[in-house]
Amino acid sequence: MTVTLDQPLPLPCGATLKNRLGKSAMSETLGTPGNRVTPRLVRLYREWARGGTGLLVTGNVMVDRRAIGEPCNVVLENNRDKRLLERWALAGREQNTHIWMQLNHPGKQAPKALNRGAVAPSAVPFSDPKLGRFFHLPRALTQPEIADIVRRFGESAALARDAGFTGVQIHGAHGYLVSQFLSPLSNQREDEYGGNAENRRRFVLEVYDAIRARVGDDFPVSIKLNSADFQQGGFEEGESLQVVEALARQGMDLIEISGGTYESPRMAGQGVKESTRRREAYFLDYAEQVRQRVTVPLMVTGGFRTLEGMNSALADGATDMVGLARPLVVEPDLSRRLLDGRARDCRVKPIRTGVRMVDEAAMMEVSWYTLQLGRIARGKAPLPDAGGLSSLLKVAGVVGWRRLRMGRLRA
Ligand SMILES: Cc1cc2nc3c(=O)[nH]c(=O)nc-3n(C[C@H](O)[C@H](O)[C@H](O)COP(=O)(O)O)c2cc1C
Repeated sequence: MTVTLDQPLPLPCGATLKNRLGKSAMSETLGTPGNRVTPRLVRLYREWARGGTGLLVTGNVMVDRRAIGEPCNVVLENNRDKRLLERWALAGREQNTHIWMQLNHPGKQAPKALNRGAVAPSAVPFSDPKLGRFFHLPRALTQPEIADIVRRFGESAALARDAGFTGVQIHGAHGYLVSQFLSPLSNQREDEYGGNAENRRRFVLEVYDAIRARVGDDFPVSIKLNSADFQQGGFEEGESLQVVEALARQGMDLIEISGGTYESPRMAGQGVKESTRRREAYFLDYAEQVRQRVTVPLMVTGGFRTLEGMNSALADGATDMVGLARPLVVEPDLSRRLLDGRARDCRVKPIRTGVRMVDEAAMMEVSWYTLQLGRIARGKAPLPDAGGLSSLLKVAGVVGWRRLRMGRLRA
């Protein structure tokens, strides 16, 4: 039977997603400067839930306030914002939608402007010194510190469940801490967390176990994982497939496939080959390899833009869910219109200022999408045709140039 976008997807834990469209995580930067939940988040997720998408994954929520990835994102360590958290979850559950909280620790991708220092598996700086200027040289984590971070993932997941979120996702992609542990470039440890592939994946498996122990067997636990880091000597497909197999054995409910890091942003399509672009989504070839090995539900994210591309990826069996990020900023109700046949493609287009140096910098797109997210959160419609330069200047006015310069495109 051909799989179509409107079909429900049952997960190993017993929960069911109402259709095959998932909103991938996007850092909203809509919390307070002290990283607390705000009514703006509630409004944004209500809008998305009403837009027909079956699964909403939140932007990354930090598990430790001493390690922050970007300004004004939520930190979840305790119950201080319980009532607003509950409202956030309730809004995301409208119309039987699932809302999963993405949990993250940035590791060395913790900007200097927001953090006193940074920790990582090993004291390895960014290989690009221009990028490295915005980040501390990380200090290697001790084993008790690793155990503390593992515990924190479990604690934040339990708090999310208590507040009414219907699942959680580990951010295991894009060069953050989990992905740093997996990478032979960033992880040069000689203890049981490094040195070979099995040791490098110990951290992510411990994080999964800690979460599962706190949320129980009937609660969706997912991971966003890189197919590869696309860096010489980094995490590559062969090792990623082994991680997928190990996570599937442990009972993971859904694996979202992405790829790249700050230094090699493939998740945004940068550096993607023309032959890959013809298939629309960037990581489908890798997903097909995963499919041959495991039956765990998959969501492929990055590049989906047309109904035809989405249907063919589902029909080929390369993915079970279609992950969308930028299209759902430009059109928060795109899923509904794809499902009822009113839309066949989406209105995402490259964001340009016309100034080459600016256009090549990752901050360009992030400021544009950040502004649009803010508009939806204030009850206004996004402006798909808004210019790049004016958005950049507006964001600079609000957050200041210093923060903007270290702003990153993908969390
Ligand atoms: C503004 C913005 C913020 C993002 N924040 C996150 C994030 O918090 N966590 C994450 O896993 N990916 C994040 N991403 C990456 C997206 O989830 C997605 O992988 C990427 O945009 C490719 O999908 P798309 O082509 O459908 O946009 C972000 C992307 C954008 C544009």
